[in-house]
Amino acid sequence: MDKLVIRGGNPLLGTVRISGAKNAALPCMAAALLTDEPVILENIPQVRDIETTRKLLAAMGAEVELGYGRAQHRTTISARLLAAPEASYDLVKTMRASTLVLGPLVARCGRARVSLPGGCAIGARPIDLHIKGLELLGAIITQEHGYVEATTDPQKGNRLHGAEIVFDKITVTGTEDLLMAATLAVGETVMTNCAREPEVGDLAMLLNAMGAHIEGAGTSTIRVQGVEKLHGARHRIIPDRIEAGTFIIAAALTGGDVNVTCCDPTHLTAVIQKLHETGVKTVIKSDCVRVMGDQALKAADMNTEEYPGFPTDMQAQYMALATQAEGTSMISENIFENRFMHAQELVRMGANIKVEGRRATVRGGTPLSSAAVLASDLRASASLVLAALVADGETIIDRVYHLDRGYENIEEKLKSLGAEIRRVGNIFPKRAAAPSRA
Ligand code: UD1
Repeated sequence: MDKLVIRGGNPLLGTVRISGAKNAALPCMAAALLTDEPVILENIPQVRDIETTRKLLAAMGAEVELGYGRAQHRTTISARLLAAPEASYDLVKTMRASTLVLGPLVARCGRARVSLPGGCAIGARPIDLHIKGLELLGAIITQEHGYVEATTDPQKGNRLHGAEIVFDKITVTGTEDLLMAATLAVGETVMTNCAREPEVGDLAMLLNAMGAHIEGAGTSTIRVQGVEKLHGARHRIIPDRIEAGTFIIAAALTGGDVNVTCCDPTHLTAVIQKLHETGVKTVIKSDCVRVMGDQALKAADMNTEEYPGFPTDMQAQYMALATQAEGTSMISENIFENRFMHAQELVRMGANIKVEGRRATVRGGTPLSSAAVLASDLRASASLVLAALVADGETIIDRVYHLDRGYENIEEKLKSLGAEIRRVGNIFPKRAAAPSRA
């Protein structure tokens, strides 16, 4: 299993280019199932979750063509025939977002069979809200042998029907799943208490380009006028705000000076504001954030919230920064119930962190020293990489496959900014740890 070896101490300097957003690319790839015409997606990041989605769509019968050379970030998906509208446990267990195919499949094919995702390292993460919403749209749902089966009702012409859906809780992929399903439903669907994440807006932009009639995506109320058929389209995926935020923190933490380019700073407002509180200086342009980490960092409390609040996907990285800020930072995780697994690894590197339920108290300013640490999920891995960049000596991060799920070429990008980082095979004996997925 690959590991990363990082020697800390170098300030990051230079320019880094941000890739397309994994969390926008995944629903957009699922949306291609709604039409029998080709959907061309640009700015697709080359990360493992995209490869998993490619396998998932191909197993159903879709043709997924990945670009190469200069077009390596382009994917063309043709779901002309979908012989097996199913998502197997083998794929869903490695990537929960596989459940995004449920809505499009039942809307287009009249049936879908998707494995239940089961438990996960960062919390229970059920899909009850996806199921409830599909039932409101008229799908008949059964659950058996660990699978959800959804079918349309022959008495209703084998189509989904528009409905009023009020989400009990804000869910990003739940909003996306039902939004896709509603595009092909008969009549109007009104969804309230929707997720307002930019990735939902990006998906709606693609769906509208495919002929859907969606209004209000990016706000908490979305209206969809269903259509009979969608057609092919070409769409460019938005930049990855979490990758951008991770590099912004890397620059600040190492006392560097980095231009984070090809990003959308308007998607990063909460993160940038919080970093300003900690003393980080930035210069913001339309698609670039210059981060200057020449000031001492000071503690600031942080609460994760749904967009436009501070993203839970940046909590672990912020914790790494808080370990180096003077004073005490209280970090509250309000989205997932078990998302502090990086804390114990940071403590092994010398951080002073106390976790109580959904709250972590970080007493900052303690020097970090190298250690062998274990990545437990995608963003926890990023937090360990950040800590290693400022730790004394050589840190070895095990289970970096988590990182590969969501960060494109992270070593090359960090190396180009001056970090000492390399990937190696099995170089130390395994430590026992709980299995996990993000
Ligand atoms: C998405 C993101 C993930 C991010 C998360 C929160 C993708 C592919 N993943 O995950 O990176 O961390 O949003 O910003 O976009 N919930 C239920 N029932 C449901 C669905 C969700 O109770 O049917 C709960 C979850 O357990 C969680 C909360 O709602 O406590 C938010 O989860 P949700 O927004 O659905 O996360 P994902 O869409 O899975």
